[in-house]
Amino acid sequence: MRSAVAKTESGPAIQRVRPIGSVPAKQGQEDEDAVRPFLKWVGGKRALLPVLRAHSPASFHRYHEPFVGGGAMFFHLAHKRKLPKGAVLSDNNERLIRAYRGVRDAVEDVIALLHDYPHEKNFYLKMRERPIDKHSDAEVAAWLVYVNRTGFNGLYRVNQKNQFNVPFGDYANPRICDADNLRACARALHGVELRVEPFDLIAERAQKGDFVYFDPPYVPLSTTSSFTSYTSSGFGHHHQQKLADVARSLKAGGVHVLISNSSAPLVRTLYREGFITVEVQAARSVNSRGDGRGKIVELLMR
Ligand SMILES: C[S@@+](CC[C@H](N)C(=O)[O-])C[C@H]1O[C@@H](n2cnc3c(N)ncnc32)[C@H](O)[C@@H]1O
Repeated sequence: MRSAVAKTESGPAIQRVRPIGSVPAKQGQEDEDAVRPFLKWVGGKRALLPVLRAHSPASFHRYHEPFVGGGAMFFHLAHKRKLPKGAVLSDNNERLIRAYRGVRDAVEDVIALLHDYPHEKNFYLKMRERPIDKHSDAEVAAWLVYVNRTGFNGLYRVNQKNQFNVPFGDYANPRICDADNLRACARALHGVELRVEPFDLIAERAQKGDFVYFDPPYVPLSTTSSFTSYTSSGFGHHHQQKLADVARSLKAGGVHVLISNSSAPLVRTLYREGFITVEVQAARSVNSRGDGRGKIVELLMR
């Protein structure tokens, strides 16, 4: 990958990398499609995979992803056979991690359930109300895949009682059950440790030589004063500060770290000391309706 390093007067080395769009269209694409995340997740990293790979260590011991979401990076590395020493995936969304367990441990049950779920608004609305936490991991997985494929924009949003409240998506023909890909995901997840936990517990687990990829909820580009205490993701200023501190101490202990975030000024400040910051251009939805596409600058720190 062509890149130029520019030492700026204000401090850290900033690399500007060739825009993703200029990577030859076919490069790696078919290969990356061999196993895809089984969920569409806000902030999904599929478009950035070539750049993330370019900034990952060539070899490492265990892989950790403490904000796993849809797990685009994990599935990519698993498919490329880059995880011979195993992986630990975690997130503080319990239903999400239970869905991963359902796919890992009972993928045929998940597929059978999904085959029975029709694409109908009334069925969706009943599924939305289902007290899903009382059910098995396979049922949680089928439920989450179903509402993710048929709900509006694949959003995951809950109210204060943790009830899922995304409206019906009204898509013409969503692919509710991609059995081949679910089986490929189950194979990738074989032997992987799955944990429901806040990201900072990684500090107790990652060892020298391991690789930790952090993809947190991003710092909003236009931060208001409310960001210091609250964001819609529940991930505010003090979480971002804590994440930078955890990443710094892991790095000092010989752990390979890679962090993605927005290009908000706060991010540049938090990682000024001790990290190389790389600017990358990512294709992203740029408005709240999700239908405006554009290239925006994001940052990788390592
Ligand atoms: C930007 S998404 C990750 C996207 C993912 N890399 C992908 O490719 O789909 C951020 C994730 O962090 C999780 N999260 C938010 N706050 C957290 C916390 N305090 N501890 C652990 N996970 C958290 C969310 O549930 C969400 O799944």
